[in-house]
Amino acid sequence: MTKKKKIKQPWPTKDAMAQIYEENLWGGDTAEFYSGLGSHHPEVVNPYITVVSAFLRDFETPLVICDLGCGDFNIGEELFKYSKKYIAIDIVPDLIAHNKKEFKADNLEFQFLDIAKDELPAGDCVILRQVLQHLCNAEIKSVVEKLYDFKYVVLTEHLPEEDFEPNKNIISGQGIRLKKQSGVNLLASPFNFIVKEEKQLLSVKSPGFKGNLVTSLYIT
Ligand SMILES: C[S@@+](CC[C@H](N)C(=O)[O-])C[C@H]1O[C@@H](n2cnc3c(N)ncnc32)[C@H](O)[C@@H]1O
Repeated sequence: MTKKKKIKQPWPTKDAMAQIYEENLWGGDTAEFYSGLGSHHPEVVNPYITVVSAFLRDFETPLVICDLGCGDFNIGEELFKYSKKYIAIDIVPDLIAHNKKEFKADNLEFQFLDIAKDELPAGDCVILRQVLQHLCNAEIKSVVEKLYDFKYVVLTEHLPEEDFEPNKNIISGQGIRLKKQSGVNLLASPFNFIVKEEKQLLSVKSPGFKGNLVTSLYIT
């Protein structure tokens, strides 16, 4: 009798992300939902809020912003006041339900969506902060196709300090490409994101981990 070969299937991203919050895999034992040190450590949060709020405040007409993978909203909470409308999206339904109760404002909306699979709301600017680094290349590719609908993309990725081979594939989940000495570069293959302008807004050392948190602005 021939043995059937078992093919290892990755967990659906939604289940993987839900488990991270249920089991506090990004830390924060006491918090109900905790998106990790990168979302809370003042050494990375404060400079990020300073540069991104300065960018947003520069517009005479405030932008409609889609925050893709908003997490526990420790970051978005500081930014939504600079927007015309702020749509904060995440793949974890309980987290979105929690945020809806916790944060209320006329220009603020939370939506439970999978940014790789679902249609995104319309807007001027996307904020993608430490989200793509957790996704496999196929999911990143499908997100990138949707980014052309927005004029501005503010992207933050955790990257190695030294030169690295970009976009080595991983399974979507808790980990990132750093352990493979790699990181996400949307302009490189296989994503080849085409932009009119690109500017690095910030690079700060990651607290508690190797590598830097690098924030770039892309104009499509
Ligand atoms: C490390 S947290 C970052 C949260 C927030 N952007 C920040 O910087 O504080 C990554 C977030 O992305 C969300 N996420 C991952 N894949 C997603 C997907 N396909 N669609 C929507 N959200 C996703 C996770 O649930 C998690 O809340």
